[in-house]
Amino acid sequence: MSQNVFAREETSQLYAIRDDIKNNKSLCELLKKCETLNLKNDFAYLYTGIMLASYGRTKDSLILYNSVKFSGGLAHELFRYIKQNGSIQHKITVFKTTDAYDAWVKTNLYKIELEGTLKAIEKFIKTSAHAKEVNIMDIGPGNGKMTTQIINHILAFSNIKKINLVLLDKFSAMLDMASKTCITDIKANLEISRVYGEAQHLTKIDVEKLKSSAPFWLTICSRSIHHMPWEQKQDLLKLLRSLTQNLFIVEMEANHDIPEKDSPEIVYSVNKRYSFIFDDINSSSISEKEKKSAIDEFMLIEAIMMLIKERSERIDYHTTAKEWEKLSTQAGFKVLNSEILAREHDNIVHYFAMTIK
Ligand SMILES: C[S@@+](CC[C@H](N)C(=O)[O-])C[C@H]1O[C@@H](n2cnc3c(N)ncnc32)[C@H](O)[C@@H]1O
Repeated sequence: MSQNVFAREETSQLYAIRDDIKNNKSLCELLKKCETLNLKNDFAYLYTGIMLASYGRTKDSLILYNSVKFSGGLAHELFRYIKQNGSIQHKITVFKTTDAYDAWVKTNLYKIELEGTLKAIEKFIKTSAHAKEVNIMDIGPGNGKMTTQIINHILAFSNIKKINLVLLDKFSAMLDMASKTCITDIKANLEISRVYGEAQHLTKIDVEKLKSSAPFWLTICSRSIHHMPWEQKQDLLKLLRSLTQNLFIVEMEANHDIPEKDSPEIVYSVNKRYSFIFDDINSSSISEKEKKSAIDEFMLIEAIMMLIKERSERIDYHTTAKEWEKLSTQAGFKVLNSEILAREHDNIVHYFAMTIK
């Protein structure tokens, strides 16, 4: 499953640097090793800087950062944050409030992904049978903006008149905001019920509640079901197979699930994906306060957690479209369509939408 960006020899030399950091070797010795490794885009230096910060050598990580002119957005935001915060350890829980998310939905990238998401849902609705009254579930609705846009788009291309909507989220602030947004903005006869909990750790009572609201005609999982490791994704998809006729997944194409803590793969992928995101946030027409909120209270915290936490303690486990297809097929679903929503500067896929039956 791992994409093996690095040769075996490069991987072991990077791990050797990590071990030297743990053994308190001097910054000078570490820099010499980085120089010998000579990896593209100063990756050895970035890896070393992150490991230094991760293992509590904050001062050395900042000296290293100041001596290398990194080009990627992650390095800039991360070391700025470390300098400001005094350490890489953060104190914020992402999604406890909707502020940072509210700022992020105004960025260019979000708008591009939204446009692609609506095109993908339009394709689905034009080829799928539906009744006048349907049950829909949204897992991780956030502030409810994406939910309402998707559902209003469905309404525009169907003759659905009534929707029984189940909103499932692990944060009550999100459920409150999403319910409010849906009630105000969805243009249909609407009944909402809420399930408060983690999709992968639902209580028996909640599962029964979902079963009594099933079958769902559609379950929307937009940027939400990557918050669990592979093993739990498997179980969740099996549960969803028993509840829903169609599944719509919108996700980041990334390798953040299987690679272990400190692996060159996780550092490489987080740097690539989040540099692209930070560059986009910084070039979006939003206020400086909104940029700071979207970065320091949301996207950067996600990135830091993937960089410093053990795999079992991560909160984000993005995986590739190919792997989502494998997971869905294993659970008994069939992929109908997969669309690319956004590409990075080098044309690599960044986000995709998948329709599954
Ligand atoms: C990035 S937001 C996505 C919001 C919206 N669906 C969108 O695409 O814009 C992720 C949402 O998933 C929720 N979430 C995170 N982990 C979850 C989990 N394990 N189970 C259910 N919801 C989760 C968060 O609280 C948040 O509302």
